[in-house]
Amino acid sequence: MANKFYITTPIYYVNDIPHIGHSYTTIAADALARFNRRLLGENQVWFLTGTDEHGQKIQRASDEAKLTPQEFVDKVMVKFKELWVKLDISYNDFIRTTEERHIKVVQKALEILYKSGDIYEDTYEGWYCTPCETFWPETQLVDHFCPDCHRPVERISEKNFFLKLGKYQQDLIKYIEEHKNFIRPDFRRNEVLSFLRLNKLEDLCISRPKERLSWGIPLTFSPGHVTYVWFDALINYMSAVGSFDEKNNYISKWWDNETEVVHLIGKDILRHHAVYWPIMLMALQQAGVKGVKLPDTIFAHGWWLNKDEKMSKSRGNVISPLFMADKFGVETYRYFLLRDLPFGLDGNFSEEAFIKRFNSDLANDLGNLVYRTLTMVEKYFQGVVPEFSSSGERVKEIAAKLAALPKEVENSLKAESDFNFVRALENIWEKINLANKYVEETKPWNLAKENKTEELKNFIRLLVEAIRKTGAEIAPFMPRTAGTINEELGSGTIKKGKPLFPRIEDQKPKK
Ligand code: MSP
Repeated sequence: MANKFYITTPIYYVNDIPHIGHSYTTIAADALARFNRRLLGENQVWFLTGTDEHGQKIQRASDEAKLTPQEFVDKVMVKFKELWVKLDISYNDFIRTTEERHIKVVQKALEILYKSGDIYEDTYEGWYCTPCETFWPETQLVDHFCPDCHRPVERISEKNFFLKLGKYQQDLIKYIEEHKNFIRPDFRRNEVLSFLRLNKLEDLCISRPKERLSWGIPLTFSPGHVTYVWFDALINYMSAVGSFDEKNNYISKWWDNETEVVHLIGKDILRHHAVYWPIMLMALQQAGVKGVKLPDTIFAHGWWLNKDEKMSKSRGNVISPLFMADKFGVETYRYFLLRDLPFGLDGNFSEEAFIKRFNSDLANDLGNLVYRTLTMVEKYFQGVVPEFSSSGERVKEIAAKLAALPKEVENSLKAESDFNFVRALENIWEKINLANKYVEETKPWNLAKENKTEELKNFIRLLVEAIRKTGAEIAPFMPRTAGTINEELGSGTIKKGKPLFPRIEDQKPKK
């Protein structure tokens, strides 16, 4: 059983400002990091995010901005950091691929694999799409255009370096078959397995000649080449948390057998993570490097769509995380992303769905429970939370359900449950709704009228317990709300504030 947890987001390209897709992976990773910190201990969790700053895309974007690539990445990178502050992202480290610590590890890994023979030099000739930085086999071209971006491709012949992928194909198939949690969800795992079973892997070109692309990490053994951006980028997961020692072994606190290593990614970059990356790691192991393991879980989530369409700058339908968080609040934004779309599937983002969730789950269920409970503590007990005196069957039953909640949430948020945020939140909301139902069935105003003080005490005490327990469980998802609830509950004497989530139509100007 792992007692440490290391979670990563993809490192984001800085050719553009952050959008909802970036914020989705990062909020999901943040919730898991916060959850595991509570479960395993603050110091047992490491949460990494960062930026992917090399390659053609960046070079082109910086040319357009009339800046040097370094000036350009320095500028855009800040936008990501600012957004993460705004969204309460509790990352432990932010890696940039232009940092020295990263460059050193990439160069060393390349040297090791060159020496072991898994990276070799060859001449490559093929059809190349510059915007996508991809060579395409002739059979995949569509009328001589790139099958991905539909722009013209060029015939290129050049000396390059290649990583032997084919050599590890069978080992990788076996590894995936034997490790159920390695690629999640299951349908993605099957997708990768059938791809690997049906296709022969071609070796991967991991270099670019400098005259075509200068913005990359130089190969120490071939000064005329820089590293292919994906080989460079994938290594961030290791360069951020460790380094090679003088014997070329990899040393890290977060990449060992006591750590559960989890990569959260979007479905579009699954092949890179589930094929290239494990093979890079297997090749390092084969070269005798100690301290290298494969990640425990690569989880590919789905896409947020806008009216069933992919969001893109060219379509002009991109939703800005800053805009949404400003309009509806950071907490609501975090809640909505994790609650509305099953993690792993695609779904639509709409303001209507957003407002509906806000009003029902946050204003009605959670907000109402907290507000009415604290109001009753004030009204019936002058703000002092009463002690339990005796307890009836119904109280015991609800208390038992509340006690079971942490374990339920824990089970829902495991890798084998596909980090099921929807289910975890349902586990919590089931208890919130149970408590609300309990208020309606108990009719405390009658208890007060009839002077049934003992019953009223037990009733209020249990509601306060319900808020405390559910409040603690929502902390990974809505940290500020959990903090506010905790403050309002005080210790013994409550400090009631304003309703947590006033219904959205209430905020409209009154006619
Ligand atoms: N730089 C690479 C990742 C290298 S990791 C070693 C990259 N960057 S990216 O900025 O283009 O995309 C980062 C992530 O954002 C991807 O996981 C992608 O799936 C995700 N998303 C981009 N648009 C998205 C949505 N509309 N919805 C959900 N996630 C999407 O790829």
